[in-house]
Amino acid sequence: MAGSRALELAELEPVGPGTPAGRYLRLFWHPVMRAKDLPAGRARPLEVLGEKFTIYRGEDGTPHVVAYACPHRGTPLSLGWVEGDDLRCRYHGWRFDGAGQCLEQPNEDRPFSDKIKMASHPTREYLGLIFAYLGEGEAPPFRHYPDLDRPGVVTTDPPEVLPCTYWNKFDNDHGHRAWVHRATALRKNRRDILVVRHEEVEETVYGWRGIRTVKGDQGDMTSSLGTVSGAQASAQNALGPARNTHWFMPNTRLFFQRSRAPGFEASGLWETKAAWVVPINDTSHAAFDVTVAPVEGAEAERYAAARSTQEEEAEDRWDLAERILAGEMTLEDLPDEMTAYTSFTIEDYVTQVGQGSLKDRSRENIGPSEHRTILLRRLWLREVNALVAGRPLTDWQVPDVPFLDAAPVAAQAPGAE
Ligand code: FES
Ligand SMILES: [Fe+2]
Repeated sequence: MAGSRALELAELEPVGPGTPAGRYLRLFWHPVMRAKDLPAGRARPLEVLGEKFTIYRGEDGTPHVVAYACPHRGTPLSLGWVEGDDLRCRYHGWRFDGAGQCLEQPNEDRPFSDKIKMASHPTREYLGLIFAYLGEGEAPPFRHYPDLDRPGVVTTDPPEVLPCTYWNKFDNDHGHRAWVHRATALRKNRRDILVVRHEEVEETVYGWRGIRTVKGDQGDMTSSLGTVSGAQASAQNALGPARNTHWFMPNTRLFFQRSRAPGFEASGLWETKAAWVVPINDTSHAAFDVTVAPVEGAEAERYAAARSTQEEEAEDRWDLAERILAGEMTLEDLPDEMTAYTSFTIEDYVTQVGQGSLKDRSRENIGPSEHRTILLRRLWLREVNALVAGRPLTDWQVPDVPFLDAAPVAAQAPGAE
């Protein structure tokens, strides 16, 4: 433990039990799996925050997160059978309920099952995700996000599992967008993505809020991927709801984006998007993205169909990303028909995975414009250092009114439209 010395950023990379960041993250609920990836009657192994678990869904549909290993002799419980709302180990048939209590030991003449209880963690389903509380003691209140509870089509993306520290995703700042996603912008004729924005940030009761202004753009662009016109740029430069972006401590971002769904790119449809970044262990993380699109009726069906192609594309997207990182192909080589959602994830993968660990990044040179990165690191270090020192922590509060219903906060920064 760090004693009285203040922790440094690289010390936030480990997330296992007892580590400073691991202790802090275990104070909150986190998504651990998509709901649709766990059918009723199925058990699967799970790794979150450097710990292994078993997740299963009872035949009545209730998800449970319990210990990874059977308390009898340690066989993975995910190999077993779901029976009703219980789980039976494949090795010697011990049976457990969702609270971890052993109920049966079929081979024993004098069962001692009442003395055997394994770990179990509370779960909730929300927005197509299974959330779990993996900390000790009573779980904190479950958070709802009013902007995500508005009517519309909810799309829960295939999770992005990246083999790098969760900090590489945290640090994926606003300034990357026009550059990392340039190939997609050109391929899809989306000049608005090429707009370079300035972002001011301020601490709030929930974490921080970013306030964006248009700084400029990359100019007229023509490449083998296509041409984007200035006329379109002027029509699309308006930031609209995208003026504000929000970070809910510790690991949730909420923002608004023009739809990238095939057939909706030019429709002016704004999606509300939330992204949870959850460490799997010290060297990999999962990002769970959910979008809510305010469409209904036949439009909603068309939209849902347009988003469903992502599922197939997700199967080999990381193979493509690794080939790009290895220099065998470039981002400009991705197929034209690939949805912008999928090519965005590949573009983010190669830049973030390529960064390596926080220690690898110890010689980075942060610029003064990178307000978001600087503030997020400061908030995290402040809270985790308080936790380690036994000082009170900030009690983050999610506003109960949708941001979309509140007037956008305008920036006072130079470079405003
Ligand atoms: S190891 Fe599970 S019942 Fe024996
Ligand atoms: Fe990105």
